[in-house]
Amino acid sequence: MSQEVMTQSQLATLAREKEDLAVDGLIVRHTAAVRLTHWLVAIFFFLSLFTGFVIFTPFFAGWASVFGGGPMVRTLHPWFALGFTIAILYLYRYWKMKMKKEAGDEEWKDNFGPYIRYESELQNVGKYNAGQKIYFWAVFWGAIAFLASGIVMWFPTVFPYFLRTISYWLHEITFVAFVIGIIYHIYMSTTAMPGTFRAMTRGTVTKDWAKWHHPRWYREVTGEKK
Ligand code: HEM
Repeated sequence: MSQEVMTQSQLATLAREKEDLAVDGLIVRHTAAVRLTHWLVAIFFFLSLFTGFVIFTPFFAGWASVFGGGPMVRTLHPWFALGFTIAILYLYRYWKMKMKKEAGDEEWKDNFGPYIRYESELQNVGKYNAGQKIYFWAVFWGAIAFLASGIVMWFPTVFPYFLRTISYWLHEITFVAFVIGIIYHIYMSTTAMPGTFRAMTRGTVTKDWAKWHHPRWYREVTGEKK
């Protein structure tokens, strides 16, 4: 199939299975499997978050009716959280190698301020920048902390008092960190960095976006020298 005559729907079909591929003015960034997994993470995260809010404080007690009442909220929360953990494990399977430390990470960290103000042209940043890697590993270890503490809280009679106390603290600290993290993540991948969100919907980004945000990845994918 010639690249010049490829239509949007043909590109969408291609983006289901292949990534890191340049076609006309676009680059396929995430396969359908990665995108689906990401959205499952997001759906289970928000279901866990909203049921968690109801359990956490009476301020959100009104939300309980959405899930079928207070006792139902307590029953559903750990199952939603289990869905979140499984989806995260799939995300880990896709991204663990790609989120390893690389040379360009230092360049990104040193230029973080100018970069987010669109003032600094980076040269050596690969497919994921250092900030995305930090976020990925924070989410991964946060999910482990949620799971470990959540199991203790799910079966309180099985575990000793001191472990239950530690687990409540760990669960709540992780919860606060995730709330801050997700606000930042959604802001960065939508308003702050226009052109990023489509990577998780259509699977593609424009060449201009790739060249600016991930220049080394852009060169690797397109074969261009600059
Ligand atoms: C519903 C709100 C969300 C939006 C709009 C969103 C958006 C995005 C976008 C556009 C990307 C791709 C960035 C790129 O290709 O460079 C991405 C990546 C990612 N997302 Fe989300 N996401 C959301 C929810 C979540 C949740 C709930 C989690 C986990 C708690 C999460 C974890 C990640 C991770 C680890 C990455 C890869 C690293 C990164 O790009 O920061 N996302 N997200």
